[in-house]
Amino acid sequence: MGLRNFKVWRGDAAGGELKDYQVDVNEGEVVLDVIHRLQATQEPDLACRWNCKAGKCGSCSMEINGMPRLGCMTRMSTFEEAETVTVTPLRAFPVIRDLVTDVSFNYTKARETPAFAPPAGVAPGDYRMQQIDVERSQEFRKCIECFLCQNTCHVVRDHEENKPAFSGPRFFIRAAELDMHPLDAKTDRKEYAQSAMGLGMCNITKCCTEVCPEHIKITDNAIIPMKERVVDRRYDPLVWLGRKIFRR
Ligand code: SF4
Ligand code: F3S
Ligand code: FES
Repeated sequence: MGLRNFKVWRGDAAGGELKDYQVDVNEGEVVLDVIHRLQATQEPDLACRWNCKAGKCGSCSMEINGMPRLGCMTRMSTFEEAETVTVTPLRAFPVIRDLVTDVSFNYTKARETPAFAPPAGVAPGDYRMQQIDVERSQEFRKCIECFLCQNTCHVVRDHEENKPAFSGPRFFIRAAELDMHPLDAKTDRKEYAQSAMGLGMCNITKCCTEVCPEHIKITDNAIIPMKERVVDRRYDPLVWLGRKIFRR
């Protein structure tokens, strides 16, 4: 494929800028390959988080031409030969350095989400559930915690002030998963999502679903069903509209 033009954001918490590079690209390569070649040949101190290079660890989240994506799953063939490919860090989280951001917001939200709690008297190892119940929430357990959905959601993307009250789509699917668990006795997950996780701040724009690399139907299968059950639909036109427009 030959030399291709890139812009990569370099900097830290104090500020930074896009820098221009020309990097060799080979047939079949992904954006993360190019970042690695840039590190190996021109910029040994370029910071980038990655681990599996197989779309499974969720580490290499970045923004590529403004779209939140996994660097290891974005083929260079996606782009026109003449196109400059711009790589920037996730926008919703504070930059540590270059393409590495501080995603601890998500860990805080994970800690705030009440853990699975089996009924009293059932010991670990004695949990039993039907296969059909296992399958119902299987989709949500595919989450690789890349946080692309969290980074994309407009409720927090440019609104730092909303972060304390909003857990975000990744944790709405966790709530939905536990809500479907026949042994979870902790709490009414739907009510909790509404009262403590900011479910009501979501206006079902579906951007989270669009960027999910695991193709989890976050909005249709987790958020809307939970909203429907906590809110009287006669008084929530958004839910009604969402069903009309989005549901397939
Ligand atoms: Fe990533 Fe999808 Fe999980 Fe969100 S729900 S963290 S986009 S895998
Ligand atoms: Fe945000 Fe997804 Fe709702 S992008 S507004 S959580 S549908
Ligand atoms: Fe693991 Fe990309 S390096 S998902």
